[in-house]
Amino acid sequence: METIIRKIDFETEYDEILSEAAGIIRKGGLVAFPTETVYGLGADGLNGEACKNIYIAKGRPSDNPLILHISDLKQLEMIVREIPDKARMLMESFWPGPLTIIFKKLPCVPDSVTGGLDTVAVRFPSNILANRLIAAAGTPVAAPSANSSGRPSPTRASHVEADLKGKIDMLIDGGGCDVGVESTIVDITGEVPCLLRPGGITVEMLEEIIGTIDIDSAVIKSLGAEERPKAPGMKYKHYSPNAEVVLVKGEKDAVVEKINSFIDENKLKGMSSGVMAADDTVHLYRADCVLSLGRRDDLRQIASNLFDALRSFDDKNVDIVYSEVFETVGEGLAVMNRLNKAAGFKYIEA
Ligand code: TXA
Ligand code: MG
Repeated sequence: METIIRKIDFETEYDEILSEAAGIIRKGGLVAFPTETVYGLGADGLNGEACKNIYIAKGRPSDNPLILHISDLKQLEMIVREIPDKARMLMESFWPGPLTIIFKKLPCVPDSVTGGLDTVAVRFPSNILANRLIAAAGTPVAAPSANSSGRPSPTRASHVEADLKGKIDMLIDGGGCDVGVESTIVDITGEVPCLLRPGGITVEMLEEIIGTIDIDSAVIKSLGAEERPKAPGMKYKHYSPNAEVVLVKGEKDAVVEKINSFIDENKLKGMSSGVMAADDTVHLYRADCVLSLGRRDDLRQIASNLFDALRSFDDKNVDIVYSEVFETVGEGLAVMNRLNKAAGFKYIEA
């Protein structure tokens, strides 16, 4: 299949590009588009067959449900059974934006979207291209991240191209994504709201609006074989570059020393190493490829650079990537969740 790639420069009118993309979605095709979090791979969310093709293009397990993206609240009423008070409060504070809410679904939502669950995940993106595309398609748009299953989510059009060119109908290149990690997911269908996936809307921000929330254990630790995360996708190994990722924890100088000793050992074995660090330590490493995610105290910036950094180690062909760890406050919880998953929750104490 030939993938149509259209670049939007924001200087020239881009209505025509969005109409072309909306037409493809209405006909059951697949269009990758930017959102404020990561690029999504969109299909008509009420067309079960179109949504099945998303799983094929991504190589995604069929029990991992999709998020429906809306461009106005009328579309929400078409797909959910009820809107609990706490959901309304969150919607007023954070929609449009990087927050996904789990609702009880109406029967029109196909099983291929929900993986057979009786709930549906809904998000109202703030990105202008995403918003106008969904409005033009005139239907809720099902969209997982536009990466091959298991790879880091795409924060640039070039990442989507690397994974999905030739497998999807169209890619809208609208530049880089600001937040850089996927949306926060909150389930408000139970007694106490529960965080299923941390993201740019932080736990602190959510609790300020609706009080204490639970955090699903899959967010912070590796689950045993018998345990099931509430968001089915959280059980899969994820976000990995081709190289193995190893997290190194401890006091700053000890971490630098430990990682450098691994780098030296690897060199003797003929293996190349990569390091993910922050601005204050990036110059201290002897690795073949050393990247800074940004200022250690700017966790928003660290989140925004994370997936691009993980992917760039593949271009450099490194065998093993060592990463420093970051504070789990604010956006740091999302950063450490993605890093832990990339490393299979394994780490070394320095
Ligand atoms: O920021 C985002 O959310 C991006 C952009 C494109 O909007 N999308 C995204 O989709 O990250 P995806 O498919 O990569 O992740 C969706 C997550 C999965 O972990 C899935 O298991 C969970 O949402 N999910 C979907 N429906 C659910 C449901 N009914 N109950 C619990 N978890 C659900
Ligand atoms: Mg994904």
